[in-house]
Amino acid sequence: MKVVETAAELRALRAGLPGPVGFVPTMGALHDGHATLVKRARAQTRSVVTSLFVNPTQFGPGEDYDGYPRNRERDLEIFASSGADVVFVPAVDEIYPSDALTTVDPGPIGQVLEGERRPGHFKGVATVVTKLFAIVRPDQAFFGEKDAQQLRIIRRLASDLRFGVEIVGVATVRAADGLALSSRNIYLSKDERNQAPVLFRALRHAQDLFQAGERNGDVLRSAITATVGKSRLVSLEYVSVADSSTLAELSTIDREALVSLAARLGRTRLIDNMTLPQGLSPAGTGRD
Ligand code: PAF
Repeated sequence: MKVVETAAELRALRAGLPGPVGFVPTMGALHDGHATLVKRARAQTRSVVTSLFVNPTQFGPGEDYDGYPRNRERDLEIFASSGADVVFVPAVDEIYPSDALTTVDPGPIGQVLEGERRPGHFKGVATVVTKLFAIVRPDQAFFGEKDAQQLRIIRRLASDLRFGVEIVGVATVRAADGLALSSRNIYLSKDERNQAPVLFRALRHAQDLFQAGERNGDVLRSAITATVGKSRLVSLEYVSVADSSTLAELSTIDREALVSLAARLGRTRLIDNMTLPQGLSPAGTGRD
């Protein structure tokens, strides 16, 4: 596995990689969810490029950019054992030279849900993913479904900007008790970790209601709020039942829906989601 730090080195290496080339961008603090993305890329492409870059522009003021867990050596071991061929580890000024002016605005889909609570977040994500795609020029790029809104934004980005990259969504990896794996889970205290699986239980409860025939969005939102409300340490920030493509809130679930939520447990903010009906993947692949 080769580790490179500059765009020029990456481009030179990329020229000699047999295609198709798969790409897994990450911010490090790797867990089994990331390893699953790399293994999936390994299984379906001939060369696997990954990146390790804690992107400052997607963190808002007061968020955890400075404290974000960083452990380069451990991350490189996980990349290697999962099958990466190349890891791109740029410095901040390699991606954001001091004279850079251009940013990428994902439009209205970036302004609801997470975008509403974290202003500028998706502009930061869209900008860094655009730069990484321009440097790596992957044939396929792999993203986790846990970041459901991010995945939809990146599909649109790849399609709207004509990148010719196929965006592959990979199912959320969960702990045995249902908690979605996240780099931020390490911030949870023991008691918070014990209560965190209520988020998945609440989504499952909504899924059960849906399977029993419930189609009223407010009934599902209330059921999730009530389930989470039973956990003393978990404070729900929002619950959404939205059109899976446009993310517009639904009063009646008459098409594929994305049920998503964010919650705070002490200083930790967690997100999770589920699509209804389950088993359908989000529309489109983003290849153009
Ligand atoms: O999902 C992430 O880890 C990040 O948002 C990404 C896509 C690597 C961009 O910094």
